Amino acid sequence: MGKVYVFDHPLIQHKLTYIRDKNTGTKAFRELVDEVSALMMFEITRELPLEEVEVETPVATAKSNVLAGKKLGIIPILRAGLGMVDGIVDLVPAAKIGHVGLYRDPETLMPVEYYIKLPSDIHERELIVTDPMLATGGSAIEAIHSLKKRGATHIRLMCLIAAPEGVEAVQEAHPDIDIYVAGLDEKLNEKGYIIPGLGDAGDRLFGTK
Ligand code: PRP
Ligand code: URA
Repeated sequence: MGKVYVFDHPLIQHKLTYIRDKNTGTKAFRELVDEVSALMMFEITRELPLEEVEVETPVATAKSNVLAGKKLGIIPILRAGLGMVDGIVDLVPAAKIGHVGLYRDPETLMPVEYYIKLPSDIHERELIVTDPMLATGGSAIEAIHSLKKRGATHIRLMCLIAAPEGVEAVQEAHPDIDIYVAGLDEKLNEKGYIIPGLGDAGDRLFGTK
């Protein structure tokens, strides 16, 4: 069974509070999502493997470490997942980025895929799927399914806020996936919104509605 990591770093928790706040406007919301995404990525990359190399400093030869292992791929779920990309890529600029376009049908809450464009070598990459909200889990489950169908084998899911229902659904559908969140909330309401959550992540990021 995949693990769930809730990042309790004080900076992440502090910034998440202002992301939740309904009085936070679009500009600040975007900036905060950027910052929290970078901080979460910093935590997620803590375990990346290293290899020792030699480097010439101006005065001597040093043994020093560089990243080894699989290259990274960042897969935002459109639209709202896009808001997490810049903060992540600031830390790992060589990562490739794939896009999965999904929206949640407002009546059925089922995900509808409308776009997919991925790096050709996803099967060789360590993929991080990003979406601020893990609500019913339908969108994340479908996105991960799409990636696996195309050969991806190493996938992690990074969300700002998750509902227990979504976590359970992803764990059941994809028991190999670890989930990383800044907040694990109470429940879903009857419209499939996370309570207390932050509202509609896409609308708040892009200033729509
Ligand atoms: C939101 C959110 C997730 C999805 C979560 O996207 O960004 O992708 O809902 O809900 P789920 O876990 O129940 O599937 P939305 O469909 O509103 O599209 P948007 O990102 O284009 O606004
Ligand atoms: N999508 C959102 O943007 N917010 C929620 O609370 C649930 C799904």
